[in-house]
Amino acid sequence: MAANDSLTERVLIFDTTLRDGEESPGATMTPADRLRVAELLAEARVDCIEAGFPAASAITARSVAEIAKRVRSTRIAAVARCTYTDIEAAGAALEGAAAPRIHVVVATSDLHLTKKLRITREAALERVTASVRFARRFTDDIEFSAEDASRSDIDFVADTFSAAIKAGAKTVSFPDTVGYATPEDMTAAINRIRERTVGIENAVISVHTHNDLGLATANALAAVKAGARQVECTINGIGERAGNCALEEIVAAFYVRQDVLPYTSGVALQKLAQLSATVAKATRMAVQKNKAIVGANAFAHESGIHQDGILKDRRTYEILDAAIVGATTLLTISRNSGRHAIVTRAREIGCPIDESEEKAFAAAVIDFSQTRTIVTDNDLIAIAARVLGGKVEPVAV
Ligand code: KIV
Ligand code: ZN
Repeated sequence: MAANDSLTERVLIFDTTLRDGEESPGATMTPADRLRVAELLAEARVDCIEAGFPAASAITARSVAEIAKRVRSTRIAAVARCTYTDIEAAGAALEGAAAPRIHVVVATSDLHLTKKLRITREAALERVTASVRFARRFTDDIEFSAEDASRSDIDFVADTFSAAIKAGAKTVSFPDTVGYATPEDMTAAINRIRERTVGIENAVISVHTHNDLGLATANALAAVKAGARQVECTINGIGERAGNCALEEIVAAFYVRQDVLPYTSGVALQKLAQLSATVAKATRMAVQKNKAIVGANAFAHESGIHQDGILKDRRTYEILDAAIVGATTLLTISRNSGRHAIVTRAREIGCPIDESEEKAFAAAVIDFSQTRTIVTDNDLIAIAARVLGGKVEPVAV
């Protein structure tokens, strides 16, 4: 069922493929590829593109500036730690943006505060206030993230959110930085944040999840159900370590499960396959074949029982029409296939199989398939040429 804007709540999609996604080991993209990905994300109508961390390197700063100048239809964000130099670098890179956002981050867990930053909670709170105020010199659109929020004292996270909102932040983000949370943790945390944060009614709650336990999408959805209205995610779920919440999974879940997820994203689903392929190529990170929504097997059917069902009514084994996300349904022919799929595929590629020939043709294909992992179209034509007695020209295989 398609999302109906008038009945569903809008959830903002904040894409961080070019920042957290590019932080996947070995995934660094060229400036030209980064611009191309940003253009495609804008065409797909994500609400905000996090284009990078300008203080990290001069190349990143230049790339963020180029994206900010050239991609005008979408909000462009740059991330900064809570330091004046980082915020200045972000502000400078975003100077030419039509709608710039500075995203300031400080850790809130005692582990990060004592071991990494070596500061007290009070000092962290001061940094939040000072950084949000300073960032507002560059733009009115400030997002604050409490790094490692899911392993923090949630009431302290709420204190940092209250301070950020008081200083002018419009979005406050709850990251599960190390992919530690469960969906129940996320529900409880967002509920507590809503109860405890002063001024939360004037800010958007964002959620940023990682996939270390394979729960990134489930955790983001739990947060949305509890009241978060922005999801931070990446194409193909790329990102630090096991990656981030996958954008395609979130927007497809909203589309498919309106009954329990009455939300809508503004994302053009038809762009997902192209975005996935473009990001995979630019990052040299192949998409795992069984990846939900964008993997090569996401709409492929192998067993005879499934193929027969798909041919009779695709809803038997597909919860989402592949065409909706710019993909195609594939019936792979192998020794697991049944006669219905074998004959249908052969006819699709031009083999004129009569009803009386179906049984013999399928038997020949199954026989051939015993020593193969897959039967290609060329194989089908060659078998048809042999079995159908001259009706089909053989091809070189
Ligand atoms: O995972 C995280 O905490 C982050 C922050 C920088 C938002 O990526
Ligand atoms: Zn992250």
